[in-house]
Amino acid sequence: MLSLKLLQGNYNNYQSDGYFIFLPDGFSFSGEYEFVTNEFPHAQKLLKQHGFTGKKSDSYTLSTEKDGNLVHYIFLGLGDESKCSFNSIVESRRRSIARGIQMAKKLKLSEISTMIPSVKESDQYASMIEQLAIAAIMMTYEFETFKSSKKDVKPWSGTLTFLSEDCGENCQNSIERASIVGHTMNSVTRYFADLPPNIATPSYLSNEAEKLAKKDGLLFESFGRERAEELGMGGFCAVDIGSEQDGKFVILEYKSGKSDAPTIALCGKGVTFDTGGISLKPSNYMTGMKYDMSGAAAVLGIMSIIGQLKPAINVVGLMPFVENMPSGRAARQDDIITHLNGKTTEIKNTDAEGRLILSDTLAYAEKFYKPDTIIDIATLTGACVVALGHFYTGLISNNDELIASLRESGQKTGDRVWPLPLDDDYRDGIKSQVADIANIALSSYSGGTIEAAVYLQNFVTSSSWAHLDIAGTSNDVPAINYVGKGATGASVRLLVDYILSKSR
Ligand code: BES
Ligand code: MG
Ligand code: ZN
Repeated sequence: MLSLKLLQGNYNNYQSDGYFIFLPDGFSFSGEYEFVTNEFPHAQKLLKQHGFTGKKSDSYTLSTEKDGNLVHYIFLGLGDESKCSFNSIVESRRRSIARGIQMAKKLKLSEISTMIPSVKESDQYASMIEQLAIAAIMMTYEFETFKSSKKDVKPWSGTLTFLSEDCGENCQNSIERASIVGHTMNSVTRYFADLPPNIATPSYLSNEAEKLAKKDGLLFESFGRERAEELGMGGFCAVDIGSEQDGKFVILEYKSGKSDAPTIALCGKGVTFDTGGISLKPSNYMTGMKYDMSGAAAVLGIMSIIGQLKPAINVVGLMPFVENMPSGRAARQDDIITHLNGKTTEIKNTDAEGRLILSDTLAYAEKFYKPDTIIDIATLTGACVVALGHFYTGLISNNDELIASLRESGQKTGDRVWPLPLDDDYRDGIKSQVADIANIALSSYSGGTIEAAVYLQNFVTSSSWAHLDIAGTSNDVPAINYVGKGATGASVRLLVDYILSKSR
């Protein structure tokens, strides 16, 4: 576990066993970095010779002995930041600090200290420190629970100390928030998403949610198919019924205690494994479908974080956990089901199951919590991976202000979203001859991500609503070092920032 520390004041001679030294393109060891040449008189030449010029991807370590201990200077290139926006500078620094963490871990350093160079917009300094600290923690995540060779190996734990002459009173809060967001994202959202589907069943996840509720002071509620049937949640039941595992509809609620505070509802898709059901997936498309509960895992993590941060806003998290399996009892193509809000769906493909459980979840949120804003998070469509790839979550909303706020939080946190349209033209695609709507569109319509969103739109009446399709961003994102392999925690940074921005 990586601990974070902040020291404000003049710490030029601070002792630690490692230093991250951020250097821009064409750097020189004068001014604040002169101390490097005290230790290594030839540092400039040495780095040049090793090809370190301060480019974005450069890193190099020089080590020396001090009072009998090894001390490591880990140089990290920043590139040319002069023409970049603040947000893109922060994103490239996330990747720089992550390279440093990788090295610190390899060297098993117990404390690394660093000074983060300031950027033009210095009033955002605290926010930058927070963003870099979260990325550093994300970089430490590993899923090794089932590696028997790692069973007795203690995972690396170290301290990352930010040295700052004066980064204002916000900085300490930033560091504390970063620690909560980073570690909870790793230990809740990413860990549960990475767990295999034979372990992370609906009942298991419901129990884990209950434990988190106790720890973080949240209200917890959970019910299975019987209660869901009584309530008329035909979509939830249709997906649940094919599995030997009992589905669980899990609710975590954070109440701020402020009577005039708005309420945000988060609905996360929690399909613990998606075989496609009777519309069975080919095996090469089925591998990795343990991640089909990543939306619900994000909601679990966010609720835990909100419980710890206690903002002045009400948040409720709804997580329908089910396993989508084929069996003699499973729902079929041609079935017609009735939802919580009375609408009927003709099932034309049992692999479009996410929208079947989310429809009831959205209706449930509106009926019992009357939220001002509903945001659903789901690994909903392969089409979203085609449209946006792995670096942007798909965003579809009925409210332009909500789109603007989420895009802003996305750019700020590096957990990026990109809007897709929601026009009436798309709605005709999911017409059904025999029910109110069908769960997939006529093939002549294409645009699968929007098709899923217009389906969900039928279950939102009064709230402003945003749909986040994280199919491409939830796991196995290439190239971004701090996001790593496996589960990414997509939408946690985004939504925590969004929620906090609405509570101020
Ligand atoms: N879980 C999938 C979506 C998905 C696909 C997530 C690939 C991540 C990677 C979802 O339940 C699904 O199967 N969607 C179908 C919808 C289709 C039947 C209309 C899809 O995308 O093919
Ligand atoms: Mg899982
Ligand atoms: Zn599916």
